[in-house]
Amino acid sequence: MGALAAPRVRWGILGTGHIAGEFAMGLRRLPEAELVAIGSREAERGDRFAHAVGAPRAHGSYEALVGDPGVDVVYVATPNSEHRDHNRLALEAGKAVLCEKPFATSAAEAREVVALARAKGLFCMEAMWSRFVPLVGRAEALVREGRIGDPLAFQADLGIVVPSRASRALRPELGGGALLEFGVYLVAMARLFLGPSEETLGCAMVGPSGVDEQASVLLRHSDGGHSALFASLLSQTPGEAQLFGTRGRLRLHAPFYRPHHVSVVTFAKAGEGRAPGAAGPPAVPATWKSALRRLYQRYEAYLSPVVRRPSLDLVIPVEGNGYHHQAAEVIRCLRAGQTESGRMPLDETIAILETLDALRVSRAPVVPGP
Ligand SMILES: NC(=O)c1ccc[n+]([C@@H]2O[C@H](COP(=O)([O-])OP(=O)(O)OC[C@H]3O[C@@H](n4cnc5c(N)ncnc54)[C@H](OP(=O)(O)O)[C@@H]3O)[C@@H](O)[C@H]2O)c1
Repeated sequence: MGALAAPRVRWGILGTGHIAGEFAMGLRRLPEAELVAIGSREAERGDRFAHAVGAPRAHGSYEALVGDPGVDVVYVATPNSEHRDHNRLALEAGKAVLCEKPFATSAAEAREVVALARAKGLFCMEAMWSRFVPLVGRAEALVREGRIGDPLAFQADLGIVVPSRASRALRPELGGGALLEFGVYLVAMARLFLGPSEETLGCAMVGPSGVDEQASVLLRHSDGGHSALFASLLSQTPGEAQLFGTRGRLRLHAPFYRPHHVSVVTFAKAGEGRAPGAAGPPAVPATWKSALRRLYQRYEAYLSPVVRRPSLDLVIPVEGNGYHHQAAEVIRCLRAGQTESGRMPLDETIAILETLDALRVSRAPVVPGP
């Protein structure tokens, strides 16, 4: 029986930091997964971590982990700067790979890894875990069903204050920066709802750390939609996302990247839909309707909660820490003999990094940090 036909897919975790621990916890929710080994640059740290997460063995080098014949798939959980090399290491050893976001620090690096995975016919995926959270799929289905009409614009923010100036996210040598750390989630979610983008505008504030400590991004999507995104390592932002359409708006309540609450508000009066090149809205005729509108505007604060009440409220608690859904997708793909996930394809990963690349060349001069 081939390893992947075995009752449980055997995982190795490369790296022993924060997210490695979370992922190990997530794996426990999957009866079809087994955590069999840990790889650390330092044997004692690997042993300690393996003990803490209940893995039966630890290797004192990443080479030894990827060479472990009992490992089917390697989860790469090292800093961003190391992803290209660690992905390559695992693929060269013949292992399937799930790599933390961002998959690499540039599109060029990502293309290199993708070419290797494809040449070797091995499964590889970026751990864009939000895409596998069930409520995100439900939100997408609501949009497809036309609940908000034509989707036109997406707006989202993600700002979490780094614990200290020495944090990984503020270190250029580890591939830090707001765009690679958080922008990647924002762009991935914008593309999920509005599709590929053709134009990228943005500005970033590069602090004394040398990385973009906050960044704002505007995307023009291929079918005309717009996204306005904001990422920060210096400020705590609401962490919400909203999609605006001609008939309503959909809100992914915080944290949008792992939502447990999605609401839809349907507008009292639907727009006419998009008409490319058309002039602005028709002039309002001076009738009783415009008088009513003026009245509504005057008392909007009281009336809007009633008139624009959420037409749908979906609350689905996230199971565990939510990291197991992406692992379930890896297992499903491996069992189906797929080398890529249709939900998070490698070309999508490359396209997201191309967008981030475009932004990083247009960043602002260094400003004093806090
Ligand atoms: N999906 C999410 O929600 C989420 C959340 C946080 C982070 N992330 C991503 O996960 C990755 C890891 O983040 P983290 O917060 O877990 O980082 P972390 O706590 O700093 O851990 C990184 C681990 O990588 C290993 N490592 C290998 N080379 C290293 C180097 N040059 N410097 C430091 N450590 C090195 C270390 O383990 P050993 O030395 O023991 O080998 C270390 O424990 C990043 O790509 C990040 O973007 C994802």
